[in-house]
Amino acid sequence: MAQIVDGRVVARESLMALKSRISRLKRPPGLAVIKVGEDPASAIYVRRKTRRAERLGFYQPDDLHLPEDTTQAVLLERIAALNLDPKVDGILVQLPLPAHIDERAVLAAVSPDKDVDGFHAVNVGRLAQGRRSDDLMIACTPKGAMRLLAESGVNLSGAEAVVIGRSNIVGRPMAWLLEQQNATVTLCHSRTVNLQSHLKRADVVVAAVGRAEMIKGAWIRPGAVVIDVGINRREDGTICGDVEFDTAVKRALAITPVPGGVGPMTIAMLMENTVIAAEAHQRQ
Ligand code: GUN
Repeated sequence: MAQIVDGRVVARESLMALKSRISRLKRPPGLAVIKVGEDPASAIYVRRKTRRAERLGFYQPDDLHLPEDTTQAVLLERIAALNLDPKVDGILVQLPLPAHIDERAVLAAVSPDKDVDGFHAVNVGRLAQGRRSDDLMIACTPKGAMRLLAESGVNLSGAEAVVIGRSNIVGRPMAWLLEQQNATVTLCHSRTVNLQSHLKRADVVVAAVGRAEMIKGAWIRPGAVVIDVGINRREDGTICGDVEFDTAVKRALAITPVPGGVGPMTIAMLMENTVIAAEAHQRQ
């Protein structure tokens, strides 16, 4: 049986490590989590983020839950004000946004030094160029997935890594991060022909497709390390990942569960990015 990589434990350790950094700051880190509309999944994620920030003593501005019919201009004005607010170190706009709002324009409006989600083109570009500064804002989910890979003990140098899913939030940045650790990376997606043939040689599998148990356990190479980013709901209402866990766990060397794997790491990395931003702002 595989080692189960417990994201709750690793997230707790990451958050513990932040406490002493927070105590050394001149003022609490400030985080603005903006939500537009009533998407039920977003409501859950935003609540988790704001609660965790509250427990760490972060400053959080009021009234960042905007109605569904908010215009793009109003949202951009709000972001512009937060960019100028010296108490705010991090700004996050929860995605997806309502269809009438241009997501790219909104992400571009967040000041890159407050972009704790790592979604601004400047930060994405820096990551893609392989810059390794300590205060580079890296997207929280791939950053958390890399921490879990470190926890599994896998040596990424020279490893064959297969990333499934090419989203800007996970798949693409994940591929860059793995490549920077000297893995040989294959980025698979919905048009990939014969996914199984790629998985056959994978030492590391990162599944980020968002389809319940699409990746069968039998496709996992014995001894592979599996990071499952998916959070899906089965027809019976239970939560599962993109990987068929019960069969994959018998073949993998290490695997992350869903829930309790990558999910808690995303929140912990958001808190860490906010502390990094606060430290950088207070150095200025
Ligand atoms: N929607 C799904 N994942 C994310 C995330 O990591 N950040 C934001 N802002 N929205 C999301």
